[in-house]
Amino acid sequence: MIIVEAIEEIKKICKSSRDGRVIVPTMGALHEGHVALLDKAREFDQIFATLFVNPLQFNNLDDLNSYPKTLEEDIDIFDKNGVDVLFMPSKEGILNHDQIKTIDSGPAGDIWEGNFRPGHFDGVLTIVNRFFELIRPSKAIFGLKDIQQICLIHNKLSSAHNVEIIPVETQRNPLGLAYSSRNSLMTEDGKRKASIMFKALKAGKEYWKVSSNLLGVKEKVSEVLSSEPDFKLQYIEVKPLSDIAESGFSDLFKEVDLNHKVIMIAGSVEGIRLIDNIIINSNKY
Ligand code: PAF
Repeated sequence: MIIVEAIEEIKKICKSSRDGRVIVPTMGALHEGHVALLDKAREFDQIFATLFVNPLQFNNLDDLNSYPKTLEEDIDIFDKNGVDVLFMPSKEGILNHDQIKTIDSGPAGDIWEGNFRPGHFDGVLTIVNRFFELIRPSKAIFGLKDIQQICLIHNKLSSAHNVEIIPVETQRNPLGLAYSSRNSLMTEDGKRKASIMFKALKAGKEYWKVSSNLLGVKEKVSEVLSSEPDFKLQYIEVKPLSDIAESGFSDLFKEVDLNHKVIMIAGSVEGIRLIDNIIINSNKY
């Protein structure tokens, strides 16, 4: 694996043909969810990964400063999982004002997560756009835990850069807690409590199957979540994918349509903010 830090060097390496070039963007603190993204990436010829904790997508300085950092372990995981080139730019290099173009996520970036994290998706799209410009991948892989993120990247960047966006299912621990870099900030007891999120999502999905009643789904999810007093709920959305996904949607989800509904929840345990979601009409995702 080659590790590249300089912008000019990554540009030079990426001048060659982009066929079969896949990118896996990350902020490090790798876990089983990232390993699943890298497993998918190995279906392609040239695997590029990025490791950059992007300050543009944090609307809270404490959250940025406490973001877990495990550089040596991360490099080892990238290497062992077949990454050919790891791009780890400096903040000054990648966020250079003369070269970076701000991408506006539009109205779909202001709802759900965006409502609670103003500017978050503009920050995500701005950095991913910069990676696409520099690395020129033909495919890019993202996890479905951040369902709004992947839909917005697909809406705003996929056709502009002619990059196929490939989703990978959310990976979960044996209790059902979605793997997230932030999990390492919780105790084992906290992780057990946080697993109420997936129990609630599954109960909501089951309720939908028997009732097709969206309001009832929300109530069901809320009821299950409230059985864990140490889970502090921020929001529950039960909305159609059309709220966050635009045309060309079927390129992203082969067996899901825009009318299908998502249950999206956010909340915290031990002060650590977590998100999770489930598509209630699909057996696949
Ligand atoms: O999902 C993430 O880890 C980040 O939002 C991403 C896509 C690497 C952009 O910084």
